[in-house]
Amino acid sequence: MSASAEPRPMTSHPSTALKGEAAVPGDKSISHRALILGALAVGQTRITGLLEGEDILDTAKAMRAFGATVTRLGDGEWTVDGVGVGGFGEPEGVIDCGNSGTGVRLIMGAMATTPITATFTGDASLCRRPMARITDPLELFGCQVAAREGGRLPVTIKGAADPVPVRYRTPVASAQIKSAVLLAGLNAPGQTVVIEAEPTRDHTERMLAGFGAQVATETTAEGRVVTLTGQPELRAQSVAVPRDPSSAAFPVAAALIVPGSEIRVPGVSRNPTRDGLYVTLLEMGADIAFENQRDEGGEPVADLVVRHSTLKGVSVPAERAASMIDEFPILSVIACFAEGPTVMNGVAELRVKESDRIEAMASGLRANGATVEDTPDSMTVHGTGGLRGGASAATHLDHRIAMSFLVAGLASEQPIGVDDGAPIMTSFPDFLPLMQGLGAKLG
Ligand code: S3P
Repeated sequence: MSASAEPRPMTSHPSTALKGEAAVPGDKSISHRALILGALAVGQTRITGLLEGEDILDTAKAMRAFGATVTRLGDGEWTVDGVGVGGFGEPEGVIDCGNSGTGVRLIMGAMATTPITATFTGDASLCRRPMARITDPLELFGCQVAAREGGRLPVTIKGAADPVPVRYRTPVASAQIKSAVLLAGLNAPGQTVVIEAEPTRDHTERMLAGFGAQVATETTAEGRVVTLTGQPELRAQSVAVPRDPSSAAFPVAAALIVPGSEIRVPGVSRNPTRDGLYVTLLEMGADIAFENQRDEGGEPVADLVVRHSTLKGVSVPAERAASMIDEFPILSVIACFAEGPTVMNGVAELRVKESDRIEAMASGLRANGATVEDTPDSMTVHGTGGLRGGASAATHLDHRIAMSFLVAGLASEQPIGVDDGAPIMTSFPDFLPLMQGLGAKLG
């Protein structure tokens, strides 16, 4: 989100049964990667279903600044004429990635092994987030980094002229760290290896293979080991972006908690590294059917049919956290409407997302009548089958916090407000009309 955007207060009101089809936007993770790999490939990549949220538009702008030709043909339909691995040119201005941690971290990786210099910045939320987790492994390739105190943005990277390949074990479960290292490894000779104790989303590996790179993944006693052979020629591809399971989570949650609801969410990615929320909801007793399971563009997808459900609290194991890391805010809302405690374990990473999501959800839910406990790496919501509502929540420039509280207000006794819904534009520009189309009273 651009730092200058005016705050936009929004309110949601108790609603009657939600009905209809919710065609959520394209997957944010895959959209970033399609633009970046398109820019690093030789030839013209065609993308359909691209998310046109602010985060992705910032990545498109960045790819142009590094020399790729990025063209919008129509709704979600884009082309990228790439410059080839190692072909990035030096940008004239500062690269502003807005609100997007994925954008800035992946792009830093993509340029770190090319002998050019680039400076990165972002909005107030992004400038608070840790970047040393990315720049530390990138320095191992031979690039030079200057950052603000604590490794924060703005960061300047002088790319390595003679990069060496790297073997790196990620210190926290993070697809962004893994992806930054793999993208840097593209322009290093030999094999770059990333080892992760817990598997994280694997879109980078899948797409690199789709663009013609040699990528091998094996599960060993150390964890998941990904090996990339450097300096491939990436060949332009057609990429069909599936719909985002993290965005789908909001209408899905609304249908589960608003009595009488039944909605259909078509073409949602069911990639197992992104599926943790849906596994958890089924354990809670959610009525969700996965219809027409199929493969589209190298990703498994299905049409979801979701009905209002009587839910019970569950304990979510820490090993599942990475596969649903963006879904804990909305799970904490759903948990209020379940009977009994829902315990979310191993979620320390939530404290360094677009906001401290444990703090943001715990304080907003408490203000609206819920009982919530939190520790540095866990959150417990004591569900009572409903929520009082009636208070406003602070969103801290965080799209998922805004959407979570707006969904909560559809099923609570009294309306729920958010101080700023503008960040929703980063990932789900049509959130309001889509929810209103199902019958939700919010705006
Ligand atoms: C993402 C990885 C996750 C996630 C983010 C998207 C990605 O971050 O929270 O929204 O596309 O790689 P971490 O890798 O920091 O967990």
